[in-house]
Amino acid sequence: MNEQALAKETMDLIEKKLSLVAERSRGIIPYTTNDGRFDDTSKNSICWWTNGFFGGMMWQLYHYSGKELYRELALDIEEKLDQNLMLPWGMDHDSGFKWLPTAVAHYKTDGSEQSFNRGILAAENLAGRFNPQGSFIRAWNDSGDGSRAGTAIIDCMMNLPLLYWASEVTNDPRFSQIAIRHADMAEKYFIRENGSAIHIGVFDPNSGEFLHSEGGQGYATGSSWTRGQAWALYGFTLSAIHTGKPEHLETAKKVADNFILQMTKWPEMGIPVDFDQPHDCKREDSSAAAIAACGLIELGKYDIKYHEAAVKLLEFLCENRLSLDDNTDYLLWNCADSFWSNREQMTLIYADYFLIEALLKLIDKDFPIFKPKKEAK
Ligand code: GLY
Repeated sequence: MNEQALAKETMDLIEKKLSLVAERSRGIIPYTTNDGRFDDTSKNSICWWTNGFFGGMMWQLYHYSGKELYRELALDIEEKLDQNLMLPWGMDHDSGFKWLPTAVAHYKTDGSEQSFNRGILAAENLAGRFNPQGSFIRAWNDSGDGSRAGTAIIDCMMNLPLLYWASEVTNDPRFSQIAIRHADMAEKYFIRENGSAIHIGVFDPNSGEFLHSEGGQGYATGSSWTRGQAWALYGFTLSAIHTGKPEHLETAKKVADNFILQMTKWPEMGIPVDFDQPHDCKREDSSAAAIAACGLIELGKYDIKYHEAAVKLLEFLCENRLSLDDNTDYLLWNCADSFWSNREQMTLIYADYFLIEALLKLIDKDFPIFKPKKEAK
């Protein structure tokens, strides 16, 4: 069977399972699973950064299957996230992760005015986090003491598409100008000479001077946290798709080349949590593999070697790390929230989201949640 037929067959099995999972998951926003069943962050963590991904899965499945159930669940999550929009201290650099897969996906589906408003409010807030000194979008909040005012993270590359979308629908270039400046800054300070990415960069928020990097969720300062590499890989690819800037494409390829090289060093397993973790540590992060596969498939349109690497990652995930058992709610297992976390072999909702997005890309059926409807040339 060729790779497209395999992706279609796997997607159909996933959709069959998730139609049952969705039926028993009305009214919740999952992040991970306990004993195979979803938790619910809508109760105590409405501002949690992953709260858009289940909605995004629902939109992808709605467009794939046409089943109304998925749309209903997506709309419920979009409405629940209004509580977050009303909490300024719950708004951070992750607005793209929350509102692109929910409100913006809804707007792209049927032009809903209310969803448009939600998307623009989120984009205005994200743009407001830009610090012209240093040209970075501030990451996390603090208690008001300014201790995190100079912090930027590589993950934010994946939130820039919210700003590109806002410029596209308002004809106001300031959103995309901020996104481009942040991406240019990340090229300079976050991507090392060998194409690996740092996780956290700290600036002096008044002078804009770059002070130092931090290891964040990776193994150590100076190491290569694989999910951070994946955010950089797909994030720069998306910036290139939105802006047509050759520098963003070159950076995406540089990050991808390093990712592929590092993959070859762990042939006996999936993607490690950090490419620089000790070699006898076998901890994996399937979410990094799924996210990277999305970026590699897009880069594969420029060079087939990236597509081939994506297919290799997806084959590994689907053959070894995918649960199609409909008694469990998750798809991918062996994920890691961070290298030093004491939660071993987690499931993570965004791993499942990006697996679905990647498989749909392979059969040309992905709904453009992080991508524009029309690509820049
Ligand atoms: N954006 C946080 C993470 O990737 O865990």
